[in-house]
Amino acid sequence: MFESVSDLIRDAEKIVFVTGAGISQESGIPTFRGKDGYWRKYDPMQLATIDAFYKNPKLVWEWYEDRRKNILAAHPNKGHLAISDLAKYKDVIVLTQNIDGLHQRAGSNQVLELHGSIIRIKCTVCDFKDNITDSFDGLPPKCKCGEILRPDVVWFGEALPQDIWHDAINHAKSCDVMIIVGTSLAVSPANTLPIFAKQNGAVLIEVNPERTVMSEYMDLSITETSANALPQLISLLEFRR
Ligand code: APR
Repeated sequence: MFESVSDLIRDAEKIVFVTGAGISQESGIPTFRGKDGYWRKYDPMQLATIDAFYKNPKLVWEWYEDRRKNILAAHPNKGHLAISDLAKYKDVIVLTQNIDGLHQRAGSNQVLELHGSIIRIKCTVCDFKDNITDSFDGLPPKCKCGEILRPDVVWFGEALPQDIWHDAINHAKSCDVMIIVGTSLAVSPANTLPIFAKQNGAVLIEVNPERTVMSEYMDLSITETSANALPQLISLLEFRR
């Protein structure tokens, strides 16, 4: 299985990864729709929409603060590190739906965060934005302008940051290989990126222990976990360098 893929990767000029919660699962961060996923326990409409936030900003902040602490205690796994490693030999762009920053902590520096970042905050009214450096005195935290601050993440029903989405489409349209890792492809518009890539002649490779709604659309589906499969892929490449 890996032989045919490593040929494709070896000859590729530009490789785009589209990643989701599954790539961080082996770092101890729950997915959303998996058996231990967040949306099995919580209602996303109560925690991940702008209406939910204005209805109960304290509850939403408590949930994000709990996730942020878990994420800061986590470490990049072999899957994140393999992607960062590959960038030493190839032009690698990471389009991630994850807000955990683990790709960057693994050393990847061409990362587009399609759904924002849990370690960034922004004001609900003025244009204040900043990284969260420590915990807050009270929730919800307040901006200097007096309004409440919110996590700088994209909630259901909100548009992705237009500049980031525009760049993501351009990368999808201009890659030779797109590797889709650890995502159910259940959420748009991120789940349209493989279509843009395919329309422009890219080879699609999926890495996911389970089949997804787009598995039949892929040129190759590697039904393994990412921390298992990605290092094997890259080691073959290094051998062939
Ligand atoms: N390695 C690779 N894939 C895995 C692993 C693993 N170790 N463990 C689970 N997976 C796969 C699951 O099979 C599933 O297909 O990861 C996928 C996770 O899917 P979701 O939980 O739906 O997460 P994701 O696709 O990232 O969700 C997209 O939905 O709730 C919103 O904003 C949230 O960014 C998120 C978006």
